[in-house]
This record gives sequence, structure tokens and C-alpha cells, in this order.
Amino acid sequence: MQNPEMVFDALALNEGDTILDMGCGPGDYAIRASEIVGDSGVVYALDRWQDVIEELAEKARSRGLKNIRAIVSDITERLPVDDESVDICFISTVLHSLNLTDIERALFGEVRRVLKRGGRLAIIECKKEEQPFGPPIAMRLSPEQLESSIVRYGFEMMDLVDLGCNYMIIFSKILSENDAIPGLETEDKTPLEMTLLPVGIIKNRVDEPFLVAGGAGLEMRGELDATMKHVRQVREAISEIVIDETLAGVLDGIEEYSHLVVLYWAHKVPEEGRSLTRVHPMGRADIPEVGIFSTCSPARPNPVLTTVVRLSRRRENVLEVAGLDAVDGSPVIDIKPYVKDSYPQEGVGVPDWMERLQEEVRGRGRMDG
Ligand SMILES: C[S@@+](CC[C@H](N)C(=O)[O-])C[C@H]1O[C@@H](n2cnc3c(N)ncnc32)[C@H](O)[C@@H]1O
Repeated sequence: MQNPEMVFDALALNEGDTILDMGCGPGDYAIRASEIVGDSGVVYALDRWQDVIEELAEKARSRGLKNIRAIVSDITERLPVDDESVDICFISTVLHSLNLTDIERALFGEVRRVLKRGGRLAIIECKKEEQPFGPPIAMRLSPEQLESSIVRYGFEMMDLVDLGCNYMIIFSKILSENDAIPGLETEDKTPLEMTLLPVGIIKNRVDEPFLVAGGAGLEMRGELDATMKHVRQVREAISEIVIDETLAGVLDGIEEYSHLVVLYWAHKVPEEGRSLTRVHPMGRADIPEVGIFSTCSPARPNPVLTTVVRLSRRRENVLEVAGLDAVDGSPVIDIKPYVKDSYPQEGVGVPDWMERLQEEVRGRGRMDG
């Protein structure tokens, strides 16, 4: 153990906590944790090697520690632990030995599954610098590398502790919006939570949305004419959709479609924009307010936007598309083929105000409201 006092100070374990030590090795941390959490707590200690686990189980027996569950388990696979049952997942000097790019989605998804609401993930790694012992520098992971990968899976960084040659980085599980909504609960009364992981990112030259969302409603960034010009430009502009390389294979066959439906997250909508319920479409005071679900407003409880785009070209994990009205850096949620017959063509009714908005821009570009 490196600097156990500092490690356990920062972990701030409580009696009764449940800890998951992933890649526990000889189990020094697991044993110390077991003494702190006491008989009302549990320490799951996982390692892929049988002999390591047998030795730890024997050590626990000889010390009379009844709360250690030593289990042979590969932490890159499904974890042998119930959903939302763990206070802290602890991974000490293991991650650098795994091919993180290939397994991070599954691994951190599993960590998220087993952590309780507000649970934490603590990782110890060797600093990414030349040292006379430990893994070669190319294998070492910096805290920045870990942070940029882990925040993508529903975590936020809480703490970074300097342990000398090593460091410990601590994340907490972010709660989803639905956690706060009464009624959206599962049978056992835990809030229903949906985890969306971005499958890629949109790259283009659009820096800012033309509709600004805030607590007071929607507002056009510039004059009407400038907005129309923007809409026309977007219609022609090429964007790149860069799909996460760990999802190899998801794009196979996509070149055979001319058009795609892109679902993306409007990441520039401020938090207060998500509590709007009624807006003037397009921020236009001359159109009466309607409910958000009667509009295509980017500000909505879940800012999920949909656009049909023309597929120009695929370059491995990159799709070049035309007509994507997303801002640079928008996370992509999903991509589906556009199949014309799946969408009704006849008897489609829209409100008069929407018809008028469309009339206004018809021939000049599409307008979302
Ligand atoms: C360097 S030791 C660290 C042990 C302990 N966590 C500590 O810091 O004292 C790494 C341990 O991770 C385990 N390990 C590596 N990959 C694993 C995996 N995919 N699943 C489970 N255990 C793994 C190894 O068997 C080894 O016991």
C-alpha cells in the first residue's frame, strides 16, 4: 500500500459502507477497508487469479474478518455485484495494465451500474513520469487521461490526491435528471434512471446556436434575416460525425443509405432552459406561446434534437453529412437510416402558426421552432 493514511483519509469510508476492490491482488487495501466498514459493511474483493483470491480469503479467515467477499472475477466483464449496491469502487494500480480504449465503455458502465446514487469511484495509478520502478511510461495513465475518458460515462471528478509516486483520482456518479422526478420510480421505489452514453461527436464550423435558450424562453441570436441566412448555410454545410472508435462495426452498411436521422444532445442549452415548459416558437413574440412538445425548440426537458441529413461519404469511423443543424462539439446519441416510408407523407397536419413559419422560409431553408 502506498500512503495508506492519505488514501483512507480521502476515501472517508464509514461503518456499514460497501466497497468493491477491483483487482485486489494481495488485498492489503481490502483488509484495511474491511476493518473500517466493520461487520455492518461489506468488502467485495475481486481478482482474476484463483490463487490470489484463495490467499486473501485465508488471510481474512485467520484475522476473523467476516465481511470480505473474495471472488475470482475479471473486472472487464460483468461484475458479480447487484445494481446500485456499492458505496465506493476502488481500482488500485490495475487500469494501466488493461487496454483501456477497448474496455472503458463496458468497465465504467458496470461501475456506474453497481454504484449507489452518489457513490464514488477511486482510482490509484502511478504518475506518468520516469521512475526507476513500476510500469514503462508508455503504459502509465495520467489523471487528465483518466478524467477525459471517465467523465464521458456519467461521472464527475471530485478529488485528486498526490501520493508521491502515485496519485488517487476520485469521481462521483452523476445523477440523472429523472432522479428528482417523483413518480418515475421502479417497483422497489428507487428512481428510474436512464443512462445515455455519447456514441460520437459532431464537428463543424458552427460555434453557437442561433436560438438562445434561457429561463425566460427562446431568443433569436440576430435579426430575422441573419437567422434565415444561417438556416440556408446550415442546409448546405458539411459536418463530420466522428463515431467512437470503440464501437467498431456500428457503421457497417450505412453507405447504402442516402439519408440518415441523427439524434444529438443540445449541449449548449443551459440548465435553466431545461425547465421551460412553454415558449414563443423561435422566440417570436408575434406567435402565441405553446408547450415545448409542440415545438422543435432546442430547450426542452431532455435536449435531444433530431435532424435528417444527407450522407456524403464515410471515412472509416467518420461520416460526412450535409444539412446537420448542430453546433460544433454536440454529442451524438444515435444514428438511424432515413427510410421514407416509415414517415407518413399523406394527411400530415400542423398548426397554422407552424405552417406560416414554414411559408416564411419556404424556398429559403428549413426553420425549427
Ligand atoms: C498491481 S496489482 C494491484 C493490487 C492491489 N489493487 C493493490 O494496489 O495493492 C494488479 C492486480 O490486478 C489484477 N487484475 C489485472 N487485470 C484484472 C482483471 N481484468 N480482472 C481482475 N483482476 C485483474 C491482477 O491479477 C493483480 O492482482
